[in-house]
Amino acid sequence: MGRFDGRVAVVTGGARGIGFGCAQRFADEGAKVAVIDLDESAAAAAAARLGEGHLGIGCDVSVAVSVDAAIERVLGDLGGIHILVNNAGITRDNLLFKMTEEDWDLVMGVHLKGAFLMTKAAQKHFVAQKYGKIVNLSSVSALGNRGQANYAAAKMGVQGFTRTLGIELGPYGINANAIAPGFIATEMTDATAARLGVPVDEFRARNAERNPVRRVGFPEDIAATAAFLCSDEASYITGQTLYVDGGAKLVS
Ligand code: NAI
Repeated sequence: MGRFDGRVAVVTGGARGIGFGCAQRFADEGAKVAVIDLDESAAAAAAARLGEGHLGIGCDVSVAVSVDAAIERVLGDLGGIHILVNNAGITRDNLLFKMTEEDWDLVMGVHLKGAFLMTKAAQKHFVAQKYGKIVNLSSVSALGNRGQANYAAAKMGVQGFTRTLGIELGPYGINANAIAPGFIATEMTDATAARLGVPVDEFRARNAERNPVRRVGFPEDIAATAAFLCSDEASYITGQTLYVDGGAKLVS
């Protein structure tokens, strides 16, 4: 018996990194998973790596028609929807005076509008069945981070969005929570290392030193948290943001 037997989980940005880690965990615990990502073939390849019966869908979460079509495919092919993880994300880092309007709009579009569109499309099914679990990816950068005015604003926006979902959707049997990861070893942070001209191993080691547990995080750390928050054991928890950061927030 898995905690998610009979459930359908949708994970955006699920083709790699934290999203794939979450998809893997839900699949391992019995869910049918829809991996949503920009590129249909990458999403399908990730779904195939999860095993039989999962689905990969090409979808840009910042485009309403693309989101609505993706949710319809989930319902048609997997027969329902119970869990939504709004994980898709991008960075366009720069100091404020160099940040372009496009950098701002792109980051807001994926993180905030993407979470809004996906949640809006999913919640009508959650409300009708009086059951749903939503996890949104925030970040420690929500607290402010040099070079990330756009990303920090979006990730703190995710926390306000999540609190409001908790208030509005709680009466319908829906829990909505956010996870704010610290440094997680993925292609996103590897790309930051490349941009800064620092070798990946050195960049990870430096970031490990910045938190009390003295290691970087891995997608599995976030997946375990997402699985708990989407489980029925967590049904009295809603509107919260849980920092999963090795204690980095305590010392920054
Ligand atoms: P990643 O860059 O490895 O993966 C992100 C995935 O999202 C990619 O597969 C990408 O194709 C997909 N994606 C991007 N734009 C999309 C769109 N418009 N529609 C659909 N899919 C889209 O990133 P990572 O590191 O796995 O991050 C996942 C989430 O966790 C993001 O929201 C990120 O901001 C957040 N996060 C990551 C941290 C880290 O240290 N890696 C720390 C805190 C938060």
